[in-house]
Amino acid sequence: MITAADFKVTKAERSRLKDVNLENVPFGKYFTDHMLEVDFADGEWKTVEIKPYQALTLGPSAAALHYGQAIFEGIKAYKSADGKAAIFRPLDNFKRFNISAKRMQMPEVPEEIFMEGMRLLLQLDSDWIPARANHSLYIRPFMFSSDEMLGVRPGHNFKFMIILSPTGPYYGKPMKIWVEEHYVRAVKGGVGFAKAAGNYAAAMYATEEARKNGFDQVLWTDPIEHRYVQECGVMNVFFIIDNKAITPGLEQGTILAGVTRNSVITLLNEMGITVEERDLSIDEIIAAHKAGTLQEVFGTGTAATISEIKELCYKDYSMLFDVEKWKVSPAIKNRLDTIRYMEGPDTHHWMYYI
Ligand code: COI
Repeated sequence: MITAADFKVTKAERSRLKDVNLENVPFGKYFTDHMLEVDFADGEWKTVEIKPYQALTLGPSAAALHYGQAIFEGIKAYKSADGKAAIFRPLDNFKRFNISAKRMQMPEVPEEIFMEGMRLLLQLDSDWIPARANHSLYIRPFMFSSDEMLGVRPGHNFKFMIILSPTGPYYGKPMKIWVEEHYVRAVKGGVGFAKAAGNYAAAMYATEEARKNGFDQVLWTDPIEHRYVQECGVMNVFFIIDNKAITPGLEQGTILAGVTRNSVITLLNEMGITVEERDLSIDEIIAAHKAGTLQEVFGTGTAATISEIKELCYKDYSMLFDVEKWKVSPAIKNRLDTIRYMEGPDTHHWMYYI
């Protein structure tokens, strides 16, 4: 069992916090004073270090740079108006991290290193958690193969790290989405369910094409027929059709088992809204739009939280929504915020106090 005494902590000489305005801070631009770093070598995890945020020294032949053996997580810490600080469902992200590690042939990170390391790091940098609506401290655990070796084989040496970044809203306004039917994100048997770095690299070309055409993100479809929707940009996606919520199911292994997705399903159920986790085709979405029963479309994710979609475009068929009239997604966001900013009861014990 690893305890706080097993962490080597070196504090920064001065905090950089006073140089950063925590209001409307862009996602992922600033990093806190400290980071966590631990190496895996000779089949074991070495000393966990918490130290000033700094550049890494890495061999140019480090395997992750060549073959992409790298995974990550996204978690958020919140601060209440009266100064309490807590992390939203970090144990769920920890579990998903090790699911990704297994799929990418990487060692599992012990719970004590992940959880206790994150807690200690956050305690040290807790002043960086913004105490304002729609703001939080984004926690980025990640691991990569540091083997200096060009042979294509699983690494033996890995680095697990956690860095922290204060953030405002990821998407500042309702989004315009292009339904992608040429490029694909994930296939059955692939790594779509893992938070593998390469999934994000592979999405960039299609996303950039959509951006050039005036869209914010793409809605991925299945790789065979390009009919069944998967994920939307860096988010899971929900459709409110005829007062029911429908979101793609997890059984194919092509979408991420989002922690926000899971929380939203729980809250929708509590609100008495039926949730269906199942295949959903673009034909069904268009039919619902034509019938006037497609009420809301929104994405969910750690970074994005709940992001409303104001336009969904499939080929030359454009579905426009008046998000101002929506009821479900604002209610869900409100319920989530009440829990995350510790303004109401946390009946599911989702908040992990640091
Ligand atoms: C997250 O929501 O944590 C993500 O993974 C999105 C990130 C790639 C920006």
